[in-house]
Amino acid sequence: MGDGLQIIGLGMCTLDVLIRCKDLPTWEHGTRINAFGFDGGGPVGTAMVAAAKLGARVGFIGTAGNDAPAEFKLRSMRECGIDLSRMVYRDAPEDQVVVVNIHAETGERIFSGIQRWGEGQIRPEELDRDYITAADYLHLDGFHNAAAIQAAHWMRAAGKTVVLDGHKTDGPVREHLRRLIPYVDVLISGSAFARGLTGIDDIWKAGAAILTMGPRIFVQTEGIGGNYTVTADEQFHTPAFPVDVIDTTGAGDVFHGAYIVGLLHGWSLRQIALFSSAVSALKCTHLGGCAGIPRFDAVLAFLQERGVAIE
Ligand SMILES: Nc1ncnc2c1ncn2[C@@H]1O[C@H](COP(=O)(O)OP(=O)(O)O)[C@@H](O)[C@H]1O
Ligand SMILES: [Mg+2]
Repeated sequence: MGDGLQIIGLGMCTLDVLIRCKDLPTWEHGTRINAFGFDGGGPVGTAMVAAAKLGARVGFIGTAGNDAPAEFKLRSMRECGIDLSRMVYRDAPEDQVVVVNIHAETGERIFSGIQRWGEGQIRPEELDRDYITAADYLHLDGFHNAAAIQAAHWMRAAGKTVVLDGHKTDGPVREHLRRLIPYVDVLISGSAFARGLTGIDDIWKAGAAILTMGPRIFVQTEGIGGNYTVTADEQFHTPAFPVDVIDTTGAGDVFHGAYIVGLLHGWSLRQIALFSSAVSALKCTHLGGCAGIPRFDAVLAFLQERGVAIE
């Protein structure tokens, strides 16, 4: 397999400020914080930490500011050996900072971002084509949109694989993500994305419609409802693994990272869906998107305890 990078992530990386509480504060009353922490986050940032912790060789391209929060947000990625040599630093305070309020009873969360969010995104001319196309997989989340389209175009021309995190949606899919779909080989999305993209309610029919738009594999995750896979050859549902949930932050993101690792191993899509569900379930038992991501052996042990064999 060589020793070059296998996956390049190009997208968002945040500093998550995690606040786990039963009730949110109001302008009249504060609240008791049940648990508190900082972690690296963002859809592609978290997915890349997952892929690296699970054994892949990973590079990440994104932007960071010139202050302490910028350094802090990159720590989770540095600690697991992700190559950050093509990061783009802006001479401005970090703006990819998110306050994550986590419901102490369900582990579900809401995100609050900074107002000037998204300024200074990477421009196509700031990308290193050879660095990107030397990898087997490119993982995108739609952030740095013009650069993402350029990079996806190069990867397609090089015969490599483009993966997109399609996010969760409660309405029509937004334009910046729609623009990427024709360049995508593997589309993995959060809840209701298929309907938001196609206008079709039935997940299997919507998935089939997505296969005519570019992707050859479509997967939609539905939290504890598990995930749905649609390809030209097979359509199946994979249940989630029930666990004692502390925090669901990053559940979908790590699912994406784990999925690419499964593709690198050449497993069947059924096995990959089970593996990715196990990685996400284990993550949900810890506070933070990155801190709780398990190592490869821990995932295999978790699966084995439940009678599932991979490889
Ligand atoms: N409460 C939970 N318990 C166990 N697994 C979960 C839970 N929430 C999410 N997962 C796992 O993580 C995957 C992705 O979660 P999902 O909630 O769909 O993503 P998102 O991060 O977009 O909310 C699910 O398909 C499931 O396997
Ligand atoms: Mg969820």
